[in-house]
Amino acid sequence: MKYLLAVSYFIFALVCAEDDKPTNVKVIANGIESFVVTWDTPSKLNGDFLYYTMYYRKEASETESVRLQASNVNIGGLKPNVPYEFWATISTKKGEGKESEHVFGTLSLEAPAKVITEPEHFHGKLNLIVTLPCKVAGARNVTSIIWKVNGQVIEGNERQILLEKGKYLDLIHLRHEDANNYTCIATNPYGSDSITHQETHINRGEEFHTRGLVNGYNVVPYLLSSVHGIATYVRNDITDVKVLELSNQDYIFRIVTEVGGHTVTNIYKPPNSE
Ligand SMILES: *[C@@H]1O[C@H](CO)[C@@H](O)[C@H](O)[C@H]1NC(C)=O
Ligand SMILES: *[C@@H]1O[C@H](CO)[C@@H](O)[C@H](O)[C@H]1NC(C)=O
Repeated sequence: MKYLLAVSYFIFALVCAEDDKPTNVKVIANGIESFVVTWDTPSKLNGDFLYYTMYYRKEASETESVRLQASNVNIGGLKPNVPYEFWATISTKKGEGKESEHVFGTLSLEAPAKVITEPEHFHGKLNLIVTLPCKVAGARNVTSIIWKVNGQVIEGNERQILLEKGKYLDLIHLRHEDANNYTCIATNPYGSDSITHQETHINRGEEFHTRGLVNGYNVVPYLLSSVHGIATYVRNDITDVKVLELSNQDYIFRIVTEVGGHTVTNIYKPPNSE
């Protein structure tokens, strides 16, 4: 029994050692003088992770390198129309692992737009906010990003907020009907690229109906982010309640209610929001 255990442990260690190198290295032109380089890390490493080293060289030039904690890097100050070679390693407490595959890239003045965010399946919570990212690389600063759902362009409104020219789409106060596939499309004069995020819900956000209850009062509409939010409470013998405004603009939450002929404005700006 002990013998078997020892043998299987040995095989396990061998497999891990084999895995100690970055995979899926990608090189994406970002403008006319830089590349974004990304890679994946095996889920199990042979030793405790210390850092990545990303190596690159221009054809027939010295190799340069950078040490990193993140598995992506933007390398700037490069020349167009010359091939560059990139590879990466992982260093653990056991030392530097094997080199990843070498990947080549040539910068062109005409690099097509490229979405570098990976498509993801999001599980937003009802009534809360979910943020869908769309990070883009491509030649120059003329790249535009649009988002579509059901083939319709999202123009942005109080529940669908486009941030940083479309680099993020925030879906606010999630409803059942928001569960859908959201496509971001990046376009520049040289080409176009897109990804689709899937958004489905879980119900946890609805807990607020019980968590936020105050005896003898009703909750009028509320807005919540994952941490913060606002609600307006009205004594439950008052029935003359009308919601005039429910909005979230630049992360300032506003609820305006008319209660028994009086207007009640509830404004909230979460900390750390810009
Ligand atoms: C693009 O960059 C150039 C040079 O940096 C600048 O003059 C121009 O205004 C930029 N265009 C846009 C649309 O941002
Ligand atoms: C979203 O895309 C997934 C994967 O292609 C598909 O299974 C699902 O039905 C789509 N959902 C909607 C609402 O179109």
